[in-house]
Amino acid sequence: MAKFLVQKCGPLNGEVVISGAKNAVLPLMAAGILAEEECIIRDVPDLRDVMVMKEILRSLGTEVEEVEESVLRVQTRTVKTNEADYELVSKMRASFLIMGPLLARTGSAKVYSPGGCSIGKRPIDLHLKGFRALGAEVVIEDKYIEAKAGKDGLIGADIYLDFPSVGATENIMTAAVLAKGTTIIENAAKEPEIVDLANFLNKMGARIKGAGTDIIKIEGVEKLKGASHTVVPDRIEAGTYMLAAAITRGQILIKNIVPDHVKPITAKLRECGVRIEMTDEGMYVIADENPHMVATDIKTLPYPGFPTDIQSPFMAFLTTAEGESTVIETVFENRFMHVAELNRMGANIKTEGNKAVINGGKNLEGAQVIATDLRAGAAMVLAGLVAEGTTEIAEIYHIERGYEKFIEKFKALGANIFKIVS
Ligand code: UD1
Repeated sequence: MAKFLVQKCGPLNGEVVISGAKNAVLPLMAAGILAEEECIIRDVPDLRDVMVMKEILRSLGTEVEEVEESVLRVQTRTVKTNEADYELVSKMRASFLIMGPLLARTGSAKVYSPGGCSIGKRPIDLHLKGFRALGAEVVIEDKYIEAKAGKDGLIGADIYLDFPSVGATENIMTAAVLAKGTTIIENAAKEPEIVDLANFLNKMGARIKGAGTDIIKIEGVEKLKGASHTVVPDRIEAGTYMLAAAITRGQILIKNIVPDHVKPITAKLRECGVRIEMTDEGMYVIADENPHMVATDIKTLPYPGFPTDIQSPFMAFLTTAEGESTVIETVFENRFMHVAELNRMGANIKTEGNKAVINGGKNLEGAQVIATDLRAGAAMVLAGLVAEGTTEIAEIYHIERGYEKFIEKFKALGANIFKIVS
């Protein structure tokens, strides 16, 4: 079993280049099912989740080829099967994103119930509500979900999402692009990854307006063509390195970052005492001028609110900020599994329902901990950077699902982090 060993280090310094976003590239790759022609996707991060998506697409008959480093060619001349393999799909929740494109392209899709991080119930009712509204018949069996369009194909519809789900918005968008007539998604998710997908689909010939607002309008077209696209930078990876500078009281220049996409993280770090400057080179996160970081309160929300994916890394930082902070998680109902791990390292965090109270300013101690999910794994590494002694992190496959060149990037900034395989 592979583990990370993290030793206490001084302030992290230097620069880091942010990769293409995991949460953008997966739906982009799935959208490659929609056209016969080739799609070129650039800035594709080398991640385990991307590998899984490649395998899923290949199993459906899509050609997926790395034409040069970080550049993928995705081409679906014909769909060989519209049934996705159980083993593959159960590895990653985002594999469910093939459902919309498959349904649009072939009129039916059969996909096993998705796996992924266990950070809550994570139902898919809103995805299915969308498919049904577009006229598909949806059958839910024990292990799989099958959707079939009517004899006239999918028909545009007005769809109101009870919650602005990212995945449901993406799946409905990719299903509706080839539907007859107009689809309107109300209370749609507004994440930058939604905008990136809409931009890509529009390059393919789709007619989507309003992505990035809570009303998305999709006029169905007959056919989509190939397109070339560069994946938006990963705002969650960027946020993680912002926190790496903050927690170690270092100074990091972050390149390939969209400042607007990390606004809530910037605002909260400033409240704690971190200086953040945007220059032509990138974003400077300067935490070496102020040894006394102070507490703050955060509440996770759909974009443009504070991202749930940065909640656990931010909490690791708050254990080092003086005073009492509160963190309220509103997006997922079970996303405090890292609290027990941080407490094992000497943090003082109490939870009640979806609220955590962090009594900060404590010195952390290295311990044996678990990466309970992808972002919680990053939180453990951040805590390990400032904890006395060595922190041993198990179940790091979670981290490798979502962070490109994790060890290399951290080492280049001065971190003492090693992977051991036993
Ligand atoms: C995506 C991101 C994930 C991020 C999350 C929220 C990808 C691959 N993953 O996940 O990193 O943490 O957005 O920003 O992009 N829900 C329902 N019914 C549904 C769908 C969702 O109730 O049909 C609920 C979920 O249980 C959860 C909330 O909505 O409580 C948000 O989920 P959603 O926005 O769908 O997240 P994902 O697309 O799974």
